[in-house]
Amino acid sequence: MDMSALYDRIGACYSATRRTDPRIEALIRDALGDARSVVNVGAGAGAYEPADREVLAVDPSATMIAQRRRGSAPALQASAESLPLPDQSFDAALAVNTLHHWTDVRAGLRELRRVARKRIVIFLRDPPSGQPFWLTEDYLPSLDPSRRIAALRDAIREELPPVKALPFPLPRDCADGLFAAYWARPEMYLDGEVQRNISNFALAEEGSLAEGLARLEADLASGEWDRKYGELRRLESLDLGHRALVAELA
Ligand SMILES: C[S@@+](CC[C@H](N)C(=O)[O-])C[C@H]1O[C@@H](n2cnc3c(N)ncnc32)[C@H](O)[C@@H]1O
Repeated sequence: MDMSALYDRIGACYSATRRTDPRIEALIRDALGDARSVVNVGAGAGAYEPADREVLAVDPSATMIAQRRRGSAPALQASAESLPLPDQSFDAALAVNTLHHWTDVRAGLRELRRVARKRIVIFLRDPPSGQPFWLTEDYLPSLDPSRRIAALRDAIREELPPVKALPFPLPRDCADGLFAAYWARPEMYLDGEVQRNISNFALAEEGSLAEGLARLEADLASGEWDRKYGELRRLESLDLGHRALVAELA
């Protein structure tokens, strides 16, 4: 499936639950280092664009571009695989929560490398490098992205210079409704709007999640979820494999 078409379909209310989380924002700002100009590829509504640098946003989805706030960085409608930009035209290329959507991730990575002068910063979730996640372990195993992400990891290793991985334990009250954001707020996974704005849910075949979600609902009502996982509600953060990856080019 063309993933920009997916976001044209699911993206209309994206900003309702996918807000900028200030701690992810700080991580990305630090990872960008001294870069003064940034091309944000797969930028969507622009959640993590640094306001203090020159930014160009790129995204193939008109629906996502339409949700960018007035006054945010200019946006170009294009795909990572073919960036209509000159070689080495930005200090840094940034890609946040988007690589798993690209049709040809290797071509996209080569394009990031071509247009960036100093560094590439990627934010993604690499499940095997974090703690097991109860949602995919116990309720919705078909949503486990580990296999797809393994292919991304290989592509990053082969297409980019060695990357430094900065771990990001996900805060309990993460403002960005990512797939794993509600690890301590299980009730949220039953909310239709939360589900709609998470591509793993939107991509699942209709009906395929009903059994797991019904079991989660029943376990929350009976107290079974809290008996098994209730201690999570008291943790401040949990490492579920989110990483900022930084590749230095110069
Ligand atoms: C989960 S959203 C993330 C948006 C933004 N980076 C953020 O963190 O809020 C994924 C974005 O990737 C974009 N996308 C899908 N296919 C793409 C491609 N081939 N090249 C670049 N972006 C793509 C989608 O349109 C969508 O805006």
